[in-house]
Amino acid sequence: MYQATSVTELRQYLQHWKDHEQSVAFIPTMGNLHAGHMSLIEKGQSLCDRSLCSIFVNPMQFGPNEDFNHYPRTLDSDLAQLEAAGCDLVYLPTASELYPQGLDKITQVQVTDLTDHYEGAHRPGHFTGVATVVLKLFNIVKPDVSVFGKKDFQQYRVISKMVADLNLDVQIIGQETTREASGLATSSRNQYLDDEQTDRAAMIYQILRDAAHQISEGERDYPATEQRALAKLEQAGFKTDYFKICNARTLLPAGPEDRDLVILVTAALGVTRLLDNIEVSLW
Ligand code: PAF
Repeated sequence: MYQATSVTELRQYLQHWKDHEQSVAFIPTMGNLHAGHMSLIEKGQSLCDRSLCSIFVNPMQFGPNEDFNHYPRTLDSDLAQLEAAGCDLVYLPTASELYPQGLDKITQVQVTDLTDHYEGAHRPGHFTGVATVVLKLFNIVKPDVSVFGKKDFQQYRVISKMVADLNLDVQIIGQETTREASGLATSSRNQYLDDEQTDRAAMIYQILRDAAHQISEGERDYPATEQRALAKLEQAGFKTDYFKICNARTLLPAGPEDRDLVILVTAALGVTRLLDNIEVSLW
């Protein structure tokens, strides 16, 4: 696996692939890689000739009260996993190359509508940081395909909207969430749970599945479904920010006429805030 730390270096590899008419799948990450990331790489590899992963803990997407400095950085293990997965190239940009004048002066990409609610409301500025760095990375890499995990469903939709709104020439693929045997969504944050919390966290997906089942069976009183789910989560000791049944494209609260739904949830155990979702198709 090749490693590049500068745009110039990276573009040399990319040019070589372009000369050989090889397509490129790009998987942007912040490192601390796990099975979920590996499934993104695998998906990219199934679609393109070459796979490229970036590792960059993007300061612009962290709020002032979020701990950018303590975000887990596990480069050796990340590189070993990428190598084992057969990733062709890893890009390790530096903050000074991506943000030469610091964060204050950089042009910002603000994706409208989709960023007003849920994680956007909970983490002001977060999606501007994500969209800005992803657009920069797309312009540097110019991939044919880029793969995003649907576990961060809102992020996946925000990136898809940015690509559509700005006519970017890259195909965005949403990859299904990787789960533990218990149903718990694989996440870097799971490492902060103790054993008891890890067992309990599996309830999040069970409650999502129950709600999805009720909707598939004809339930259309979505606010009542949400209230029942929130009550179950709270009873089990979770602190929830939202459990919301939405239109899967607009992320607006779903109505009875919507056919493609997603249920978005965050549920915290102690200081660990877990995100999950489930899609429901009523076609
Ligand atoms: O999902 C992530 O890891 C990050 O938000 C991303 C897409 C790599 C941008 O920094």
